[in-house]
Amino acid sequence: MGLLPLLTRDRGRSLHLPAHGRGVALPSELRAMLRHRAGLWDLPELPEIGGPLIQQGAVAESQRKAAVDIGAERAWYGVNGATGLLQAALLAIARPGQAVLMPRNVHRSLIQACVLGELTPVLFDLPFMVDRGHVFPPNHSWLQEVLNELPINGVEIAAAVLVHPTYQGYATDLKPMVAELHRRGWPVLVDEAHGAHFASRVDADLPDSAITAGADLIVHSLHKSAAGLAQTAVLWLQGSRVDPIAIERSLGWLQTTSPSALLLASCEASLNEWRKPAGLRKLRVRLDEARKLACRLRDLGLPLLENQDPLRLILHTAVVGISGLDADVWLMGRRMVAELPEPGCLTFCIGLAPQRGLARLMHRCWHGLLAAHGKDTSLPAFAKPPLPRIAVPAMPCGVAWRAQSREVPIGDAVGRIATELICPYPPGIPLLVPGERLDQRRAEWLLEQQHFWPDQIAVTVKVLAF
Ligand SMILES: Cc1ncc(COP(=O)(O)O)c(C=O)c1O
Repeated sequence: MGLLPLLTRDRGRSLHLPAHGRGVALPSELRAMLRHRAGLWDLPELPEIGGPLIQQGAVAESQRKAAVDIGAERAWYGVNGATGLLQAALLAIARPGQAVLMPRNVHRSLIQACVLGELTPVLFDLPFMVDRGHVFPPNHSWLQEVLNELPINGVEIAAAVLVHPTYQGYATDLKPMVAELHRRGWPVLVDEAHGAHFASRVDADLPDSAITAGADLIVHSLHKSAAGLAQTAVLWLQGSRVDPIAIERSLGWLQTTSPSALLLASCEASLNEWRKPAGLRKLRVRLDEARKLACRLRDLGLPLLENQDPLRLILHTAVVGISGLDADVWLMGRRMVAELPEPGCLTFCIGLAPQRGLARLMHRCWHGLLAAHGKDTSLPAFAKPPLPRIAVPAMPCGVAWRAQSREVPIGDAVGRIATELICPYPPGIPLLVPGERLDQRRAEWLLEQQHFWPDQIAVTVKVLAF
């Protein structure tokens, strides 16, 4: 049949990303542009238009204005997702051989950047909720305990990364943590892919953005948490700890030489939304509706977990003995498409489009799901990953990833060094990174994960051949 007819097919209720809800919440100025002859707008970096790394032209002007309006020094639009901008940002703040402190729930793009840039990830563990199998972001005292254990293995840290909020919408108070990391002299990169709307400051109940918290570099995904097209993102630079020239060198190395004018226009239009009273009003309405929806669903008996982002609804399927992956398949068959299936939960992205009649629909689907798969008992507690509070891979990630490897059953990999990333997507959080040595408990835990994510985790793992 080919791809094209699939893209326009009616799929029922879209509770997934991009957050524009299959075009319904796209900014009106972008919709107006798309009404012109198809492809008319697909232009190269003409002098008048420019691109993210060109100092003249409309893109440069747009980035300058966006930075001023949000209170940052600089902004760069990205057309290769948060992935491309996170990688460029990381490579700009640490040189080959240097180490970067990062939480265990970093997106795989940052581990890949460590491989590319010959950086050492110093990975710190996170609070883990056994009832749902989720990690929480750290708070200040958690981070303080991590920092008290440094240095580890004599490794000197050059920079730090934080992830805020998590995919499921758990957020934290970043400000004291950023200040603590700055006291150590480290620039702080925050992966705020899921929290662009926090920076709108539209609502006092939304968590503070990494921008307000004073992070040096912040990446927002404009398709996950604003009304941008897929792949759009923005990188903000604040203060003077990071040299903008280092960022541009790094972007120039990693970004395409043919950025899509459509995607750049979408970056501008989605950021413009929250600089206008009408756009802010719309966002406020969506947040209010989402909060009311969650209350209503809880009143109706749906087990929704508490989080800090009203636009993410976490259905705790484990309490009725159902895996989030099974729930997802069942709901998709009933034309309700969620975003993030995990062993204990199914997360829906409410997004920025109005969701009329959703409470009724979810209530009905929930009862159908219960009748089809529900059990009297909840799933057993999820095992916390058996990880030290802080870990440095036994071998540099890049060296391990490039080394000759062989594939062995996970059970036979005990004592060996992994050469690959094991990483179910979504959420894209690595369970094992190249260069880590497997011990018995970790191997057993990975085998258990294989049982939960059978399509995504193999029963084998690639390890150093020698
Ligand atoms: C926390 C986080 N950061 C970064 C990314 C990468 O974003 P993108 O898919 O836009 O490249 C993801 C994707 O899921 C993510 O969850």
